[in-house]
Amino acid sequence: TEYPFLAAPDRLIAIPAGKWRKLDEGVADGRLFPADLLARAYRKAAEGASRANALHYRDPRGSPRLRQEIASMLRRQRGLMVGAENICITRGSQMGVFLTARILIRPGDAVLVERLTYEPAVAAFRACGAKIVTVGLDEDGVDVADVERACRKHRVRAIFVTPHHQFPTTVSMRPERRLRLLELARQFAFAIIEDDYDHEFHFGAQPLLPMASYAPARVIYAGSMSKLLVPALRIGYIAAAPKVVDALAYQISLIDGMGNTVTEEAAAELLESGEVRRHVRKTAQIYARRRDAFARNLDSEMDRLIDYRLPDGGLAFWLQFKDMAALDRLEARAPEIGLSFASSHSYAAEEGTERGLRIGFASLTEEEAKEVLQALRSCAEP
Ligand SMILES: Cc1ncc(COP(=O)(O)O)c(C=O)c1O
Repeated sequence: TEYPFLAAPDRLIAIPAGKWRKLDEGVADGRLFPADLLARAYRKAAEGASRANALHYRDPRGSPRLRQEIASMLRRQRGLMVGAENICITRGSQMGVFLTARILIRPGDAVLVERLTYEPAVAAFRACGAKIVTVGLDEDGVDVADVERACRKHRVRAIFVTPHHQFPTTVSMRPERRLRLLELARQFAFAIIEDDYDHEFHFGAQPLLPMASYAPARVIYAGSMSKLLVPALRIGYIAAAPKVVDALAYQISLIDGMGNTVTEEAAAELLESGEVRRHVRKTAQIYARRRDAFARNLDSEMDRLIDYRLPDGGLAFWLQFKDMAALDRLEARAPEIGLSFASSHSYAAEEGTERGLRIGFASLTEEEAKEVLQALRSCAEP
């Protein structure tokens, strides 16, 4: 071949399209986001930026107005003590995680991840030369004793966690685990990469504040507007110490120089006008109903096949199969009916880890969810 040195990726990270339906791992329903709201915000952003002669090359850290708006949202709603100088805008939080890996990792450094975790983040760490070391996980979050053991054995540079709703299992990390993890981070001088990908969606009690709110110096906080609005905007951000922000900005200079000014100004417009808050408040009620209906459908369609716990927030269920043969049948047959979803193998950071499916419920109407669950059941049955 022409490029014999070019290794093909072993597994595609993006979920392939399904001829009938593609299930996600917890995404907002894009159909609920009014297109005219977005169009108006873009129009205003384009006109404003043009009038201000701001359509030139600019600061790689992102639109000053959007950085202010995000800092103010994080201060008011999530307890982070941050200003615009702590914010770097990225094209999605995935880019933020990748750039964080780029600046932190030297060859041979270890990055800790839970044994079930978010594959694109692991892949980004690996791509930057990290040695991935897995640690345990239970219904209270990461196994902190395991973290300590790993720190005594490896040169640990960072841990990747999703404390609000663990990806993929949806459990939240208990406060005492969070405090112990912060102590260990101080003792062994590693960074905590906190991916807070779906902070807004909780259906019961108020959620815990992010870890970054009590240890801004130790935590590199990755956030996203993908779940708030739609993934297609590609607006994510890192909140961290200014030194980290500047190092990320340098990487952005190497990649694409800067983000899309009009999109960033439009996002700032939506935040400033309160439209984001309104949209989230409205859709959260819809998602709460969809979550309950999804659970009822799971009980009626898949009770014999799976165990699950009702997620108290987030936009997805974690389905644990009672019999792995049923899961294998399901995964083998789903493509035949044009149904695609993330592979149960994608969550395991090491061989031999238990497998399950993470299915987003928010982007499906109740009728769609019922159809999907019936289809999943029929694929799983012998
Ligand atoms: C755990 C987690 N982190 C990050 C992301 C990526 O978000 P973004 O669209 O901001 O890159 C997702 C999206 O599904 C996610 O589930």
